[in-house]
Amino acid sequence: MADVLSPGWIGPVRLRNRIVKAATYEGLSHRGLVTRDLVDFHVRCARGGVGMTTVAYLAVSRDGRTDRHQVCWADEAMPGLRHLTEAVHREGAAVSAQIGHAGPVAYRAPALAPSRRFNLAGRGFSRAIGKADIDRVVAAHARAARLAVEAGFDAVEVHLGHNYLASSFLSPALNDRDDEYGGSLENRARFARDTMRAVRDAVGDRIAILAKLNMDDGYPGGFGLDEAIPVACWLEADGTVDALEMTAGSSLRNPMYLFKGDVPIREFAAVMPGPVKLGVRLVGRRFLRRYPYRDGYLLEDARKVRAEVRLPMLLLGGVTGRAVMDRAMAEGFEFVAMARALLRQPDLPRLIAADPATPSLCTHCNKCMPTNYTGVRCALVEPASPRSGSWGTPAGYVPRQASAWSER
Ligand SMILES: Cc1cc2nc3c(=O)[nH]c(=O)nc-3n(C[C@H](O)[C@H](O)[C@H](O)COP(=O)(O)O)c2cc1C
Repeated sequence: MADVLSPGWIGPVRLRNRIVKAATYEGLSHRGLVTRDLVDFHVRCARGGVGMTTVAYLAVSRDGRTDRHQVCWADEAMPGLRHLTEAVHREGAAVSAQIGHAGPVAYRAPALAPSRRFNLAGRGFSRAIGKADIDRVVAAHARAARLAVEAGFDAVEVHLGHNYLASSFLSPALNDRDDEYGGSLENRARFARDTMRAVRDAVGDRIAILAKLNMDDGYPGGFGLDEAIPVACWLEADGTVDALEMTAGSSLRNPMYLFKGDVPIREFAAVMPGPVKLGVRLVGRRFLRRYPYRDGYLLEDARKVRAEVRLPMLLLGGVTGRAVMDRAMAEGFEFVAMARALLRQPDLPRLIAADPATPSLCTHCNKCMPTNYTGVRCALVEPASPRSGSWGTPAGYVPRQASAWSER
């Protein structure tokens, strides 16, 4: 059994340990550019001891954004991205870029989706994506991956989960196409596989390629484990992925399925524009359901994928301390991915290295969730005071101004 604190390899990249900061959308970019706060956020994770931090969700094209301020691989964003990767490297950690297209979860209607549906997230009907747009979006993934290499990233993580575009193609509930992208599992997986192939063709072995793939959408008729296992096997056989991170849930239909724990209705309502506030308070419980939390809560399903593939795997979901890390290693996972526990304590890996009994202070209250468009943070920690520009201000690198959800 590997020691979680020992170095590990993902494709061509050596990580100093096996702890990866999972993507938590930071809400810290401004007008598509990296800000000093976004750099600081990842430097804190790196200083805290992770082997690799993940810059969350960088859209591959403008129509794939979940936030109007999101970075989407425009040339102007490159100086800031380079600055970020250099700052993380100086702390001894690797840095990954999560790339993807939000599909039906994109913030602006009409959102692109496999099939037309009424779409709460996009606030209107989604539009069934045509072949030309499919080709464009696949090519945009390849371009994003190439730019990630140029910007100094060690890895890209392709988002194949949470009912973003690739994941909504996989879901039988969201995809009723009758062309080569719908129907059989092989057809529904075509977009994800073509995307991964385009990314591999674009970057070869210059950086590591991870895929974050759903195991279960979390609603009847969605994509489930019985289909996720063959898709994981195909990705392995295609040779397009260096490591798999299995996830769950749907930002579109059942967001809490991934998180488990408390449902912060009041905090969600607070960041919504006026008329939506009341709606969230009244019917929010139906959309934001409560699931019991326990440490390592995705292990049971992820173990079934583990049994079928040889690719390195990251265990995600309620990884909070040494006990669940050791359990993951004992079960054959090569890495662990942590999100909320590191929002609460970015230095948790260092604390655990010093004392394996260090407990996580994360209470899975999930009040961090609605902060992710205004500067993601743990609600139990005082907001940090504004920082000075200790890393200089290269071109294309601006401080984020206050930006409320209602502006999106
Ligand atoms: C505030 C917040 C923002 C998140 N943003 C993203 C994201 O942009 N992309 C993604 O794939 N997952 C995102 N996630 C999900 C996490 O990566 C992770 O899968 C989930 O929190 C479960 O891991 P945990 O139990 O360690 O928190 C987010 C989670 C939180 C709490």
